[in-house]
Amino acid sequence: MFDRTFHIHTIGCQMNVYDADLMANALMAMGYRPVADPEAADLAIVNTCAIREKAEQKVYSLLGRLAGIKRRRPEMRLAVGGCVAQLAGRRIQRRAPYVDLVFGTRAIERLPGLVRRLEAGEGPLSDVGDGDGVMEIDGPRHAVLQPTVSRFVTIMQGCDNFCTYCVVPYARGREMSRDPGRIVAEVEVLVAAGAREVTLLGQNVNSYGNKEGLCSFAELLTRVAAVEGLARIRFTTSHPKDLSPALIDAFARLDKLCDHIHLPVQSGSDRILARMNRRYGRQTYLDLVARLRAVRPQIAITSDIIVGFPGETEEDFNQTLDLVQAVGFDGLFAFHYSDRPGTPASRLTPKVPMAVKRRRLDALNELQNAAALARHQALVGRTVEVLVEGASKRSDPGRPGDDDRVQWTGRTSSNKVVNFSLPSSADAPSPEAGQLHRVRIEAAFAHSLLGVWAPDPAGLKGEACHAA
Ligand code: SAH
Ligand code: SF4
Ligand code: F3S
Repeated sequence: MFDRTFHIHTIGCQMNVYDADLMANALMAMGYRPVADPEAADLAIVNTCAIREKAEQKVYSLLGRLAGIKRRRPEMRLAVGGCVAQLAGRRIQRRAPYVDLVFGTRAIERLPGLVRRLEAGEGPLSDVGDGDGVMEIDGPRHAVLQPTVSRFVTIMQGCDNFCTYCVVPYARGREMSRDPGRIVAEVEVLVAAGAREVTLLGQNVNSYGNKEGLCSFAELLTRVAAVEGLARIRFTTSHPKDLSPALIDAFARLDKLCDHIHLPVQSGSDRILARMNRRYGRQTYLDLVARLRAVRPQIAITSDIIVGFPGETEEDFNQTLDLVQAVGFDGLFAFHYSDRPGTPASRLTPKVPMAVKRRRLDALNELQNAAALARHQALVGRTVEVLVEGASKRSDPGRPGDDDRVQWTGRTSSNKVVNFSLPSSADAPSPEAGQLHRVRIEAAFAHSLLGVWAPDPAGLKGEACHAA
């Protein structure tokens, strides 16, 4: 059945990872099979991200490399999908004339027809039109690209928030939520195929269903939690302005909901938050953190921050540092502000010089890394529950004596990466991906933990297993 091959290179967020699976499903239903090496692909797809200038530059350097393959194998077809495709359309083909197909974020459902036209010798083609509604996978689900154990499920498309710096509302269109019944059915299919954990995806999951009059996000979580065989539920991203009491209550009610929330704050300065059009203030954010911790004391809180937004003063930045210190984030994604063409912030002044942005970013990362390390060190000696994802090599192969020792890797409920080894006894167990296991933490770093499998729950002596 499979007489043609495809390769997808995905840049960008989890939504793009999910979309790559939609593309893969559609292509496999047409008789294509995935290959890991673009050299061996009849169809190579670059699934792009436009969030910052750097991500966009990556697209063109990757296209340059693929052009080299195409020179050697002119029969290869080259397609560009995702957010840059949606925003730039045919301009991509003007800059990279060897690109056979540009398809936007709402054209994935039309990918089969477009690929058939390429096969028939048509091209170059471009489709950055709208979709018919929310995209759904119909027919067989070939789970090919994401790891089986932990899967993303997009529950809503687009974004209506128009934060002034952000390109997503233009690249992904208006917010649209999927039917809850179809989401639950998809989770059931994934669990039947071996998934133990799902992450529900949307740019602002808190407004799920509002526009369409579907159920609330908290209700959706309750329905997903009822899927038998599913061990863990995560979601991202939560916008602070819409984090409802019902969702906070879900952390009190639902055991399967993991001990983690990603709650991007973007800045600690009210003045900058207003210029960003975030529609909440610093104090609102701190209150949300307190309420989350009141219902789930062990909850890990991670965030995104932009430094050097136009007009950000040293005082504004100090307020960001102060907020980071006050919250004690478990993880932070910090970016320097990048002008995106067409966004309101790109017209705001004064711009912060790159050298200042770099200095602020370094100071922020330094503060955060020290805080995260201290939080993680408090876990040394404790036992945590880890969802095993698979085998991994030791992260520092320079360590004498055990360069080749196989290690295992997984995550805690609080989304911390734990690399762990097995005890050296003869009856050492053999972990398998998808198992939940107790691991005793022996060392902590800013971004991960190191531990040893703790096989005997009786030996835990009452230590909290939920601690991480
Ligand atoms: N919907 C999510 C964010 C998705 S984009 C939310 O509202 O939280 C992921 C992150 O990229 C954002 O949280 C922001 O920190 C960062 N980002 C977005 N646009 C940016 C820009 N123009 N420059 C720098 N960082 C940006
Ligand atoms: Fe971008 Fe704001 Fe929408 Fe997030 S909520 S995707 S930052 S516009
Ligand atoms: Fe990038 Fe598009 Fe996601 S711009 S961050 S891939 S929504």
